[in-house]
Amino acid sequence: MTVTKKRVAILISGRGSNMAALIKAAKAKNFPAEILLVVSNRPEAQGLALAQAEGITTAVVDHKTFADREEFDGALHRTLMDANIELICLAGFMRVLTDDLVERWRGRMLNIHPSLLPAFKGTNTHHQALLAGVASHGATVHFVVPELDSGPIVMQTEVPVLPGDTEEKLSARVLKEEHKIYPAALKLLASGKIRIEGDRVVAV
Ligand code: GRF
Repeated sequence: MTVTKKRVAILISGRGSNMAALIKAAKAKNFPAEILLVVSNRPEAQGLALAQAEGITTAVVDHKTFADREEFDGALHRTLMDANIELICLAGFMRVLTDDLVERWRGRMLNIHPSLLPAFKGTNTHHQALLAGVASHGATVHFVVPELDSGPIVMQTEVPVLPGDTEEKLSARVLKEEHKIYPAALKLLASGKIRIEGDRVVAV
């Protein structure tokens, strides 16, 4: 049976390892989404070359060339619409989007955050986790809402914090799991198996 694949764009700012995991997963014949576009707000993002090597169209919408957030988001939105994108995955995308853009894509935009939300929002999450002395840490895939690092949670993964952990060791342990849950969460969304009910994600 052929599946109608959802048209997906991935937004990055840097390394792009989650992007690469999504691209790899989407190669599977029955994966319900195809990655058609990778957009970076930074021309020097390493992930752009990785995407190009996979034959995926890339675009740079450089935030530095726009007068304000509204103009930047307008250009970003047009880039996505021109490619007939249906779903967006933020993967290490380091720009705060305007409420207006977030509302336009409500229920159709995912983000991955390297902590067990609602713990440790913002940046330096592995440092925050080590400072707090928690026994477990992890990552979360959630729908994007105007409030930063919030929004209905689609999937979480937990890893132990081990004696002698450094930020590098802990982030590597978490990242390995990020690469598993992001494709799994996109698969759920693209196949219509989840929906948002209030503040929560429920199975359809
Ligand atoms: C990941 O840890 C992700 O959770 C966070 O930013 C990092 C991006 O890494 N949002 P990469 O660019 O996907 O390698």
